[in-house]
Amino acid sequence: MLNYPYIITIASEKGGVGKTTLATNLAIYLAAMRKDLPVTIFSFDNHFTIDRMFELKGQKRLGSVRELLLGEKGALVAHTGQYGVNYIPSSSELVEVQDNFKGPMTLSRMLAESGLSGIVIIDTRPDLNILTQNALYAADRVLIPVKDMPSLENCKNIFALFDQHNIDKKTLMLLPCLIDSRIKFDSVFKDQKTLLRAFAANRGYRSMDSFISKSPKVESLNTNPEGRIYPILTHARGTEVHHQFTEITREVLRTYDATPEPRTWLYACWLAEKEGQKKESYLARLEGLAERCLICGVPLVQQPQGRGYYYETSDRAVRGFLHSTCFADMLCGTLYGLYNDSQAHGAARSVIAEKASKSISLFLPREQDGDYVLDFKQFNRAGEIAFQKDVPLTGFAEGCLDGLHDRLYLFLNEGLAGFEGKLREGAWMTVHAVDPHNPEQVLHEQNYRAMQRLQAHIGQQLQTA
Ligand SMILES: Nc1ncnc2c1ncn2[C@@H]1O[C@H](COP(=O)(O)OP(=O)(O)OP(=O)(O)O)[C@@H](O)[C@H]1O
Ligand SMILES: [Mg+2]
Ligand SMILES: [Zn+2]
Repeated sequence: MLNYPYIITIASEKGGVGKTTLATNLAIYLAAMRKDLPVTIFSFDNHFTIDRMFELKGQKRLGSVRELLLGEKGALVAHTGQYGVNYIPSSSELVEVQDNFKGPMTLSRMLAESGLSGIVIIDTRPDLNILTQNALYAADRVLIPVKDMPSLENCKNIFALFDQHNIDKKTLMLLPCLIDSRIKFDSVFKDQKTLLRAFAANRGYRSMDSFISKSPKVESLNTNPEGRIYPILTHARGTEVHHQFTEITREVLRTYDATPEPRTWLYACWLAEKEGQKKESYLARLEGLAERCLICGVPLVQQPQGRGYYYETSDRAVRGFLHSTCFADMLCGTLYGLYNDSQAHGAARSVIAEKASKSISLFLPREQDGDYVLDFKQFNRAGEIAFQKDVPLTGFAEGCLDGLHDRLYLFLNEGLAGFEGKLREGAWMTVHAVDPHNPEQVLHEQNYRAMQRLQAHIGQQLQTA
């Protein structure tokens, strides 16, 4: 599957069980045994083992795991490394990045959108922090090295985590590591790995067919004067562990080949579907908009510039954009009795417009003795009342226009008209400032939801008032 990588996570809460040794060497064997398969590795550890193994001398650094976790595309921070393996450099500054990682699926999304392909191997730290959890959920295959009973005991936390989040545990696979073949038992379980497997099976854990022996040769691969770490493939070919890695890699490739749709692909499909739904509701919201500015009556397709306000009635029946100037002029007339041509108009208008652009303006007409009074309020963005004024709507009920209130009367009529010349009872309208360069932005999922929350908050206050 192009650009949707298959993810292998190596995890164990127990330190020193051979996670990093497994992750790095598995990457090398995969790249060697399947030449055309891109293999990328990165680690949440700050031991820089990955870098010491794969870095090519004099390479320009394009970023690290830190940038990946901050949202950079994986393909842009992956470096060509030794042994045909791509790697993302390690970082010792993941602590504060980790604080931004709230949910368990963040890494899944990042990998689905990474542009990486083939197989990605993630080496984790010996704990179950949020990064490890993300790596576990993103994985098509989790390899859990176990070397003894305590490390086997520790596995139950990973299994419990999957249970807790209702995730299929069939991706989890134990791998006996650091097995000392010289130790033989005088019981039904004749050696360490058979014993571990039996105990694992007893708890319902699945284990790989292969295992990794403890080998002094392997242990010596990271102790040399150059401070480098050498691969088993090139520096321990004659050992038992070399054959075991060949076996493990075959086993991994078999499951890889049997997985036509890796989780990153499924995740991308799910994301696309969700985006599609969002787009649909966005389009639906766009469709219901009034075609004209309710105040000047000009079709907005004819004069789209300067749409600086969005209004919506409490019953959402009427919604649309207003020209900034139309709205400011209306407020000047309604609130302050300023005719367009009066002297004070210009200066007052900019103050009024400034205030309106920072508030949500509410228009609630109430019927009173056969006439209407407008309850006008302005709320700040936290939904608290910042300004309030009652404006008598003299002559509104009879449809008289007086030049001063004309714009307001038109606005209220267009927005809140009900049957037989009356306004819809209890209905109100709010006007929100929007970015005149991109007014439709207010209808995008997140912004719209935030506006609806404000709207609901205002509605609640009106009810309790
Ligand atoms: N098959 C092996 N035979 C002998 N020694 C090994 C073998 N595999 C790993 N080791 C050694 O065991 C030590 C721990 O290995 P490694 O760093 O891979 O474990 P880890 O689980 O990644 O540790 P940590 O939890 O600290 O990240 C290292 O010194 C490594 O060289
Ligand atoms: Mg490690
Ligand atoms: Zn207008």
